[in-house]
Amino acid sequence: EDIPSLAETYIDYFPIGAAIEPFQTTGLISDLLKKHVNWLVAENVMKPDALQPSEGNFTWENADRIVEFAKANDMELRFHTLVWHSQVSDWFFIDLDGKPMIDETDPEKREANKQLLLERLDNHVRTIVERYKDDIISWDVVNEVIEPGTPDGMRESEWYQITGTDFIETAFRAAREAGGPDIKLYINDYGTDNPVKRDRLYELVKKMLDKGVPIDGVGHQTHIDIHGPSVSSIIESMKLFSELGLDNLVTELDMSLYSWNDRSDFGDDIPEEVLMKQAERYQELFEAFREHKDILSGVVFWGIADSHTWLHSFPVNRTNAPLLFDHQLHAKPAFWAVVDPS
Ligand code: XIL
Repeated sequence: EDIPSLAETYIDYFPIGAAIEPFQTTGLISDLLKKHVNWLVAENVMKPDALQPSEGNFTWENADRIVEFAKANDMELRFHTLVWHSQVSDWFFIDLDGKPMIDETDPEKREANKQLLLERLDNHVRTIVERYKDDIISWDVVNEVIEPGTPDGMRESEWYQITGTDFIETAFRAAREAGGPDIKLYINDYGTDNPVKRDRLYELVKKMLDKGVPIDGVGHQTHIDIHGPSVSSIIESMKLFSELGLDNLVTELDMSLYSWNDRSDFGDDIPEEVLMKQAERYQELFEAFREHKDILSGVVFWGIADSHTWLHSFPVNRTNAPLLFDHQLHAKPAFWAVVDPS
């Protein structure tokens, strides 16, 4: 198919990326990636449970496959993610007596557990950053730590319940020390357009920067849908963080055909008008991205074609089509809206 390259079309604006699994480094999908993107990120194989399933046992094979594919094709790789409350193995949070750390009530033991967890985290971060620092510039250090509904805006994960916000500080400092001044360190989250969540994130980042914690930028996941949120709210959030001197990245872009809380399913026949609506919204979004390229330094999709997307199983099993290429890897109306907006 003789169509323009997405990444080449955007060469004067910002890099375009995609999240991939190791199996996508061969076959037709790999050709599509080579043609259209110049950045990659691992969809799963660089998460905590994938890289350190049990203490001291680091498993690099799958991650290395993606590193090699990126190198062989002159693509830049992002790292996702050093810390997360999900896809992290339980051993991190088990104390030396084999008990869950969160159940500990004795203050002295709680303090010892906290130190142990921070040590484990420090080691996790340093080991990984040392291995990949020459291959990877852009790093998601912590993922999804904000929860607007809690008293202080922090997600009450095990990390948080055991260490407060110290885990965030430890992760960023360890990454900087191990990786040096040139790697770029991001705090990544979804729903950063929501003013309440955005302001909680802003408060946290501001507090961390004031303490000298080395945060370079905010990763905006941007899992949106054809109904919302507004493009202007997405841009507003980027402006706010850029005023703090921070970089912005769109790290996990996709556009579901359904609102998150809607449980409907188009099945095998997605109405044409839904795909047109998606194209319109992608067009509006990328127009705004181009206009604000000075505060946005990359756009990464969470996948490349509708044949493989997490939205086939989240939040429920159903047909979805959130990306620019369809199940047969053909360009959708959304693709044309992004490369040829006229
Ligand atoms: C998702 C992957 O795409 C799925 O394959 C996996 O089962 C669950 O995680 N926010 C993130 C990503 O930061 O890591 C998630 O990726 C999607 C939501």
